[in-house]
Amino acid sequence: MATSGPPVLQLAGVSKAYPANGGLPVHALRSVSLHVGRGEFVSLVGPSGCGKSTLLGLIAGLEEPTEGAIEIAAEADGAPGQVAYMPQRDLLLPWRSLLDNATLGAEVGGGDRAAARQRAEGLLPSFGLDGFADALPHTLSGGMRQRAALLRTVLLDREILLLDEPFGALDALTRATLQEWLLEIWERLQAAVLFVTHDVEEALWLSDRVYVMTRRPGSIQLDLPVDLPRPRTRAVRGTAEFATLKQRLLDALLADA
Ligand SMILES: Nc1ncnc2c1ncn2[C@@H]1O[C@H](COP(=O)(O)OP(=O)(O)OP(=O)(O)O)[C@@H](O)[C@H]1O
Ligand SMILES: [Mg+2]
Repeated sequence: MATSGPPVLQLAGVSKAYPANGGLPVHALRSVSLHVGRGEFVSLVGPSGCGKSTLLGLIAGLEEPTEGAIEIAAEADGAPGQVAYMPQRDLLLPWRSLLDNATLGAEVGGGDRAAARQRAEGLLPSFGLDGFADALPHTLSGGMRQRAALLRTVLLDREILLLDEPFGALDALTRATLQEWLLEIWERLQAAVLFVTHDVEEALWLSDRVYVMTRRPGSIQLDLPVDLPRPRTRAVRGTAEFATLKQRLLDALLADA
């Protein structure tokens, strides 16, 4: 999606070092600068341990950067900007039903519980979870758990979604189905997404832009615009343009290996 105006999320020179735990301190991130436009879909790829989850945790406000600044644009109503964060593990509470898990964020945030439940119930069909409102997490498939965690994230109603490898542990078919479904949801929500993945094809197929990170300490080594037409069809993956973009991403990742 073409975006204009100031970014909804901007990081300038963000570094993060963890104090030494017996050995040397761990420098997880070094001077990361990036931006995400309003309604833009941006992916972050990079080697394991380069600081992707650390970066999302900093943006979500779970930790403070050692250096640098993180700016989140104010909400439409002027309230301070906030993000909806889906961590790398789905973290559904095992003793709560699917619906109670989905509304957890809204409840913790002091929202109206009944209204949140009603809204969640209304969204179950489009999340492919119709009829499972009362199911406990251990009775759901991996893909259903991921969709339930995404539902919880979406229900927070933020302009920015941070998704940390939401499809990482899924088989290729479930993953492909959920990618298509996520694009549909994203087009409806008009939220900005910062999406972490190891899968370069997934990153390209979903995104308006892809940032490639270096090994730890992670920094941004490439900002690649993905000018593929939308709505994206599966056929896009077979085009020469897609192959060229994929090669550029792989070259960047391998050059640093
Ligand atoms: N709370 C912490 N305390 C100390 N070190 C940490 C902490 N969290 C992360 N690290 C270190 O920071 C580095 C980056 O970790 P992070 O989880 O951000 O990587 P990642 O890019 O998300 O990796 P993956 O792709 O495997 O999920 C690692 O070396 C990790 O050990
Ligand atoms: Mg991670």
